[in-house]
Amino acid sequence: MPKMNLSINGKKIEVDLDPGTPVLWVLRDHLNLIGTKYGCGIGSCGACTILFNGRAIKSCQLPVSAVGTAEITTIEGLSENGEHPVQKAWLDLDVAQCGYCQTGQIMAAVSLLKSKPNPTDEDIETFMSGNICRCGTYLRIKDAIKKAAKLTSK
Ligand code: FES
Ligand code: FES
Repeated sequence: MPKMNLSINGKKIEVDLDPGTPVLWVLRDHLNLIGTKYGCGIGSCGACTILFNGRAIKSCQLPVSAVGTAEITTIEGLSENGEHPVQKAWLDLDVAQCGYCQTGQIMAAVSLLKSKPNPTDEDIETFMSGNICRCGTYLRIKDAIKKAAKLTSK
């Protein structure tokens, strides 16, 4: 199998895998980065969302061969101690219920705030529509994104 050099959370990592392996499984099964979750495996739930050069992408739909030199960021690489503004806002507003979808929600929110530092309700609803929460934490997610926007602009 071909060797590939990946850049994940600021570290260079060599993997030797079938090129079609979804990045989700590279992270979880080969690198023990289990913060990224498996929900549906068909690109419909957002539980597996990571950042690809800073933009949200569903890692279950991304073959490892397509990563190339892109920088991959997972929840483990977002901050050392949970001090990223989005993580702080999530904690302050107690967003999580069961927690299963929350990694994907946080990574999507980080991506949204990069492109729109002060998103409207509509911006949030549109951007976050690919991230499903079975526990229905959507209102708290929206409030936390607005709070993170304020924390980021300070
Ligand atoms: S597991 Fe990737 S979108 Fe659901
Ligand atoms: S917090 Fe349970 S699925 Fe979102």
